[in-house]
Amino acid sequence: MNNNKKISLGLFGFGCVGQGLYDVLNMSQGLQATIEKICVRDKTKKRRLDANRFTFDKNDILKRKDLDVVVELISDTNEALEIVSTAMKNGVNVVSASKEMLAKNFFQLFKLQQENNVSLIYEGSVGGSIPILRNLEEYYDNELLQSVRAILNGTCNYILTRMELEGKDYGEILKDAQSNSFAEADPWLDVSGCDAKYKILLIAVHAFGLLLKPEQILNLGIQNICYEDILYAKEKGLRIKLLTRAEKLGDKYRVYVMPHFIDKSSELFNVLYEYNAVEVEGAFSCKQLFTGKGAGSHPTGSAVLSDISALTYNYRYGYKKLKKLLNGNSTAPDSAKLLDSDFNIKVYVRFSNKSEIEKLEIVSIEEEYKSAKNNYIIAIVKFKSLFHFCGNHDSKVFICEV
Ligand code: HSE
Repeated sequence: MNNNKKISLGLFGFGCVGQGLYDVLNMSQGLQATIEKICVRDKTKKRRLDANRFTFDKNDILKRKDLDVVVELISDTNEALEIVSTAMKNGVNVVSASKEMLAKNFFQLFKLQQENNVSLIYEGSVGGSIPILRNLEEYYDNELLQSVRAILNGTCNYILTRMELEGKDYGEILKDAQSNSFAEADPWLDVSGCDAKYKILLIAVHAFGLLLKPEQILNLGIQNICYEDILYAKEKGLRIKLLTRAEKLGDKYRVYVMPHFIDKSSELFNVLYEYNAVEVEGAFSCKQLFTGKGAGSHPTGSAVLSDISALTYNYRYGYKKLKKLLNGNSTAPDSAKLLDSDFNIKVYVRFSNKSEIEKLEIVSIEEEYKSAKNNYIIAIVKFKSLFHFCGNHDSKVFICEV
């Protein structure tokens, strides 16, 4: 693509991020881009632009020959996969922010890029406005990267911050997160740690070349947190943060999502509200922190705009680390064997009844407290046994790494 040329976009979705993109594109001086058509699903919804800007038929965009880029910003994962795949098969470059779709179909989408000689870029899918994927891919290419520890869900960070600083109720704050458009259409994805898991999966590809499946990554969320947990942390000068981690230990990797107690010495302690942060640690660069708004219309729209702009100079992810791991093979590597899940971990566990934690493999208990309503333990447990609590809608147990 010629970077002086005016580029033509076909946009799928005009929700929070789609409208954010529309605004930042209108305010941008540098990029000469026009949204030719916007494909939306709901025929009855009132929109802020003229009706002739919209279509309800995806082929009105996918079958056009004059578009340079398809921008996919919808929440239906299956539909998003269909749109992105078709556009790539038609030889069109794609920008997407659908983390779930990308994480669940990563290898297929990687292959489609190679087979059709097109680019698929998705900075807006991870960390909102924070430019992290291209940095991990390019800047940390030769660095001995050791770990990425990150706050990657704006909704959870917003809930945790306001519970602590304002003493507000979890449900009330979640409603605010929904009205601010931080939360997913199904907020369970946020609070259960699923959304953060999709994001760390994408980070693991660009940081380490690891190709994981969502079900291989443990996600424990904040859905069962209560004010007592926040108070417990506060009394000890700690804060609870939903952290995602991808770390290299020898020739194995640990990748998971879990609430953590964080102390003041960590820069992540002061990352508040809907802000996200990614702490990258390399053997020689030591710790570096990237931070910015992780959710919301304009911050995410600006990341999408940056991807569109990158396409004007023919940017594509090099996937150097992934290709090294693939070693010329065209089938998905079994990265699971590179994952370490056989270790012990220290956790705070709050429960009301012992039967709720019978599947937890406890190695030793360091602290124990019982009350009429709640019990908690600080214990060393087998990491693997935490999978019993992952994505479990019935469990009321709150688990936090110490
Ligand atoms: N629901 C997501 C969040 C939106 O709260 O972080 C940004 O991916």
